[in-house]
Amino acid sequence: MTQKTMHTSDFRPLDVQAIRGDFPIFSDTPPLAFLDSAASTQTPRPVVEAMDAYYDTYRSNIHRGIYRISEEATEQHENARKKLAHLINAPRTSQIVFTRNTTESINLVAYSWGSINISQGDEIVLTDLEHHSNLVPWQMLAQRTGATLRYLEITDQGLLDFTQLQDLLSEKTKLVAITHVSNVLGTINPIQSVIDAAHAAGAKVLIDAAQSVPHFHVDVQQLDCDFLAFSGHKMCGPTGVGVLYGKLDLLEEMPPFLGGGSMIRSVERDISTYADVPAKFEAGTPSIAEAIGLGAAADYITQAGLASIHVHEQELIKYAHDRLQDIEGITIYGPAPHQKAGVISFNIDGIHPHDVAGILDTHNIAIRAGHHCAQPLMKKLDVIATARASFYLYNTLEDVDRLYEALQKAQALMIRRKQ
Ligand code: ALA
Repeated sequence: MTQKTMHTSDFRPLDVQAIRGDFPIFSDTPPLAFLDSAASTQTPRPVVEAMDAYYDTYRSNIHRGIYRISEEATEQHENARKKLAHLINAPRTSQIVFTRNTTESINLVAYSWGSINISQGDEIVLTDLEHHSNLVPWQMLAQRTGATLRYLEITDQGLLDFTQLQDLLSEKTKLVAITHVSNVLGTINPIQSVIDAAHAAGAKVLIDAAQSVPHFHVDVQQLDCDFLAFSGHKMCGPTGVGVLYGKLDLLEEMPPFLGGGSMIRSVERDISTYADVPAKFEAGTPSIAEAIGLGAAADYITQAGLASIHVHEQELIKYAHDRLQDIEGITIYGPAPHQKAGVISFNIDGIHPHDVAGILDTHNIAIRAGHHCAQPLMKKLDVIATARASFYLYNTLEDVDRLYEALQKAQALMIRRKQ
């Protein structure tokens, strides 16, 4: 991470036991060791309570009703937008567009911005580390327009090979779309350098921040990125709501993505005019309770302290590397712990990662196994799949110990089965 994105002012050690008390899912004995937060995090009570309050006391549609509870719903929904703007330091609340998730945010840009900015011969630069959600929308745009996709590759350590960047950028480059943190390797990309280099070449930059905004401070004004996308369900919020941030001039010139109610100024039989941002991109009744829940999630992680969350995850990832590397036949993918977020992908010789995950489940340990929606990266690593453990503010060193011990047992079990 660059110094620009790493704030230390709010650092204080996390009270992990108090945090775990907010998550009823950890109340069993022994507790669930939930090591799949890179896929979806768990939800603390304050987030559920914020959504319950909407359903129990003021459920109604927003931006429409001239009555008390509808006005309250509108106010709470728009308050959530303010909280999200504050979380990433967006200059204006109107630069926060609510979407369903990171995937929809990126598709919105690919469709809308792409339709007026990309044409035959243009180039879009991606990296080997991209999730399918920051890859397939650009493939679809390239197929529609005749643009070309180019890739910044990774080194054997799982770091982006910056020696290639200047060769990739040219006057043909219209966009660099890059993940802030790899969902597979955990690599924290030095996106400030990428943004600066892309801007110097005249290109715009979209950041897939699905794995960064939940875990450390991300400041869109410091970064000067053009677009940034993230999801609610990876930051203690509900599923079904995500965010697109964009620079105001870009959002204002972009055509709508979806048409319908809420996004119009006036409609005639043959033509319509459109609302200002962000309403222009929010057709139809939105996920109201979910946006309110996401606002509560932004409060929750802010109160815990993003610098504190980052430091806690650094401790967990370093400890996980130290312990897991003792396992015979293990391959850990990606860079050293200090260059990573709280994600560790690995394989153990002779055990399919799906079997690893299945056996861990019998020990009440949840990890993800598979291609992690990153098939080109799997090909690069020359594997079909990996096992992946990922950490968040509620995980403990004991979770890592249980992972280590269960992996030892899984290995012994598979050896016995083969004898
Ligand atoms: N993008 C999520 C993951 O990496 C689903 O697991």
